[in-house]
Amino acid sequence: RTVATGPDGRLDTADLRAAVERDRAAGLLPFLVVASAGTVGAGAVDGFGPIADLCEEQGLWMHVDGAYGAFGRLDPAIAHRYAGLERADSLALDPHKWLGVPVDCGCALVRDTEELRGTFSLVPSYLRDESAGALGWFSEYGTEQTRPFRALKVWATIAHKGRAGLARDIARCTALARRLGELVEADAELELLAEVQTSIVAFRHRAPGRDGAARDALNRDLPAAVQRRGRVFVTGARLDRAELLRACLLNAATTEADLHLLLAEVKAAARDLLG
Ligand SMILES: Cc1ncc(COP(=O)(O)O)c(C=O)c1O
Repeated sequence: RTVATGPDGRLDTADLRAAVERDRAAGLLPFLVVASAGTVGAGAVDGFGPIADLCEEQGLWMHVDGAYGAFGRLDPAIAHRYAGLERADSLALDPHKWLGVPVDCGCALVRDTEELRGTFSLVPSYLRDESAGALGWFSEYGTEQTRPFRALKVWATIAHKGRAGLARDIARCTALARRLGELVEADAELELLAEVQTSIVAFRHRAPGRDGAARDALNRDLPAAVQRRGRVFVTGARLDRAELLRACLLNAATTEADLHLLLAEVKAAARDLLG
C-alpha cells in the first residue's frame, strides 16, 4: 500500500492507520510498515514516534529505509528529526552514500540477530564447522555465501575519521544544503519545492511566461542539459506531480562556490532550452 504524505513529504500516520484497518477489515494481514529516514525526492524524514506507536499497537514490523539519510542522525542540528528511529525493528543504511565508503557497501541493522539467522541460515554438511562458535557463519545472516570483506571499508572509514569526523562532515553537508535552499529562495528565477530537512534540495526553474506543462517539460529536460555542460551534476525527480531538480549534497569537500556554480549552470542551461 502506498500511504499518503503531508506537504512536508512525511508519511501521514492517520492514512497509514486507515490503510491497516481497511486491510484487516477485508480479511488481509498487514505485517510491515516501511518508513523513510530521508526520501529520495526531498530528503524528508518521517515522524518515527507515532509510526512506532502504531506498529507496536498493531503488531507490525517497523522497517526504516535510511539508505541515504540515516547518517544525518549524527548532525546535532537535525538529530531531532530522527526521534523514535531507535524503535525500528530494522534499518537499511548505505555506508556507500553519506559515509563515502567506496561502492558497494549496503548495510541492514536488525534489532534481533536471531531474526536474521532464523530466516537465512542454511548450513549444508560440506560447510559444517564445529569451530564456528555461537556466532556461526556470516552467511547464516543474509543471502550471500561467498562475500567480499565489505566491512573492512566501513571500519577503515570510521577508524580514519572517527565519530566526530563523520559527524562534522555530515553537518557540513546539511549546512550547505540549507544554504543552497536560501540561495534558491533568494533567486527570482528559481523556486524551492520542499523544506530542506536533510541534505537534499528540491527546486525548479520557474520558466516565467510558460504554462504548467511547459514548466514541467523544461524542468524534466534540465538535469541532462546541465550535465551536458559538463561542470556540475544534478539529477531530476517528480514530486507531487511537479518535475524538479534535486541536489544531493554528500561530499564535505563541496564549497559554497560550488553552490553558486550549480545555480548559475542551471539558469544558463534553462536559458539555452527556453531559447
Ligand atoms: C532512500 C534510498 N533507498 C534505497 C536506495 C537504493 O540503494 P542502493 O543503490 O544502495 O541499493 C537509495 C539510493 O540509491 C535511496 O536513496
